[in-house]
Amino acid sequence: MEEVFLWRGSTEQRRLRSLVGKTGRFSYFNRQLDFPDWSGKLVLDFGGNEGNLLLDHNCTIRPEDYYCLDVINEALETGRRRFPRAHWVHYNHYNCSFNPEGIEGLPLPDLGVEFDMILAYSVFTHTTREEMHNLVEQLRARLAPGGTLAFTFIDPHYNSWPETYRGNNLRWRLERFHQTNHSFKIDDLWQQSRGAQWCALVNGSELHVNGNGSWSNEVETCLSYNVYYSVGFFRKEFPYATIRPPVNGEMQHCCLIRTPGSAGILPANLEERHF
Ligand SMILES: C[S@@+](CC[C@H](N)C(=O)[O-])C[C@H]1O[C@@H](n2cnc3c(N)ncnc32)[C@H](O)[C@@H]1O
Repeated sequence: MEEVFLWRGSTEQRRLRSLVGKTGRFSYFNRQLDFPDWSGKLVLDFGGNEGNLLLDHNCTIRPEDYYCLDVINEALETGRRRFPRAHWVHYNHYNCSFNPEGIEGLPLPDLGVEFDMILAYSVFTHTTREEMHNLVEQLRARLAPGGTLAFTFIDPHYNSWPETYRGNNLRWRLERFHQTNHSFKIDDLWQQSRGAQWCALVNGSELHVNGNGSWSNEVETCLSYNVYYSVGFFRKEFPYATIRPPVNGEMQHCCLIRTPGSAGILPANLEERHF
């Protein structure tokens, strides 16, 4: 089920929240960042929800070094109950799906520290392209010297599981939505997406090619919003970044942006590697 329904969906959907396991977040970034030494590193989990990074059994980030920023207050409260020594900060920024009553363009709050790592898993897969750029620029400014910003995106044309599934990432999602919504034809949307540099899927059935799309009544209804970017397009969007393919059997690519170290040198364990 789409994450947003666990928070803004029907009572029945919200009840499923505690049953949905979100494991592997730390392991994902640990591998994408080439297994850095996390000890004493200050980490911001942007869009961290209820602290899924800390919930990963392999996680070596100390709760006191962990900061979570999210638009859902309820998720932060759950995280705070589990890990009271971590830092949980509400960011009332508009998101058409997760926080439609939030404030558009609200600047990032000042957390009083600079971060060694800023991680965002599956956050910019649910924002408009402009919101992504705006937030990425603000997040970059919060990095300590030598720090890394790592965030994920999904390539619609990439096949994440070639051994077990023949379609691409977008098709997989369309098939999932189609299980509960027969108002569209999978093949029609899939054909429209061919060659798209990027696309947005509103409510699982309205595909907008090379655009954010449009929506209405997002306050009254729970809207699902999924944005996809091809790797080629993302490279043009963030020419100074390193893009890495999915790891650990996941479908999300990772975009890495670093600040120079204090001597203007890139962190030793993060040499440039392009795919
Ligand atoms: C699909 S969930 C992923 C949650 C978590 N990162 C994980 O890996 O399980 C997307 C999260 O991004 C949050 N989010 C969306 N827009 C945001 C924004 N502008 N600022 C902070 N968080 C945001 C949502 O509230 C939600 O918790």
